[in-house]
Amino acid sequence: MEDQASELRAMFGKNGSNTNTGNTGTASNKPHKTRIIAVTSGKGGVGKSNISVNLAIAFAQTGKKVILIDGDLGMANVNVLLGITPKANLLDVLNKKKKMSDIILNTELGIQIIAGANGFSTIANLTDEQRDFFAEEFTTLSSFDVIIIDTGAGVSENVLRFIESADEAYVVTTPEPTAITDAYGLIKIIATEFSNSQIVMKLIVNKVHSADEGKRIAERIITIVAQFLNAPVEYLGFIYDDSVVTSSVLRQKPFMVSQPNSKAAMCIKHIVGRIDKTSVKPTGGFSAFLRKIIGKK
Ligand SMILES: Nc1ncnc2c1ncn2[C@@H]1O[C@H](COP(=O)(O)OP(=O)(O)OP(=O)(O)O)[C@@H](O)[C@H]1O
Ligand SMILES: [Mg+2]
Repeated sequence: MEDQASELRAMFGKNGSNTNTGNTGTASNKPHKTRIIAVTSGKGGVGKSNISVNLAIAFAQTGKKVILIDGDLGMANVNVLLGITPKANLLDVLNKKKKMSDIILNTELGIQIIAGANGFSTIANLTDEQRDFFAEEFTTLSSFDVIIIDTGAGVSENVLRFIESADEAYVVTTPEPTAITDAYGLIKIIATEFSNSQIVMKLIVNKVHSADEGKRIAERIITIVAQFLNAPVEYLGFIYDDSVVTSSVLRQKPFMVSQPNSKAAMCIKHIVGRIDKTSVKPTGGFSAFLRKIIGKK
């Protein structure tokens, strides 16, 4: 990891210019890759935060080192779901008040988290010096196996930046027609407006009543996307509409821990199994993430 950290530091070197053309993977001899996932949606309230939190826990339960970043700038959801009160966030790192290691919170759930921060609204306007500092601090995250970013809903600049920085975008929808059309709208933006058109898009259909319902909705979206956008979108899986999700929100205890045998938890485990079967893309990786998140061209 040290090697990768030095490579990244060099990449954002003194003159602030980046000569790297991407596809760096890791500079280390150790074959370590960080899987960077943005969990996102067109419509709000479809289950992103619950999925992000429980997906992170499920990954950790398979022995992975996982960090969950709350990228929802409007209302920081993650810490509420976990019943944690953060004292610092990314904005404090941007303002050089804290180091990245100071704002990473350990939880009893086997995952670490970075609390939501309005600081990202300023990322596009950082000075070179701030950018270098931030980039260096962000290298702390390269030791994680999985980075999960819970984005806000919709297509604001910050949400799109998070998605564009990631290797994989998991687009969450529910069976509701408005959620489906908004999911399509978001996929369209990712497919047509992103420079990173290689981003892997996967669908999660939440709050379904049967496996068939999830499959049917995913197929409908995938067919329309193929027809009008010619973009590859895969079906990752479904999550049942399950009352344990709501009760775990109220109790601030993720269902993956409090109700590990529930239908919702089983679905999450299944999804993690499917993700684990696919390898982390060789292109981009953590260095590309870093470059994009801080807006380096
Ligand atoms: N599988 C499910 N079964 C039952 N209820 C669910 C399920 N998933 C989510 N919910 C309910 O939907 C609510 C919204 O979920 P969540 O906060 O995760 O959505 P979100 O997409 O993160 O919302 P926002 O866009 O506001 O950030 C939860 O409080 C929960 O009550
Ligand atoms: Mg949320």
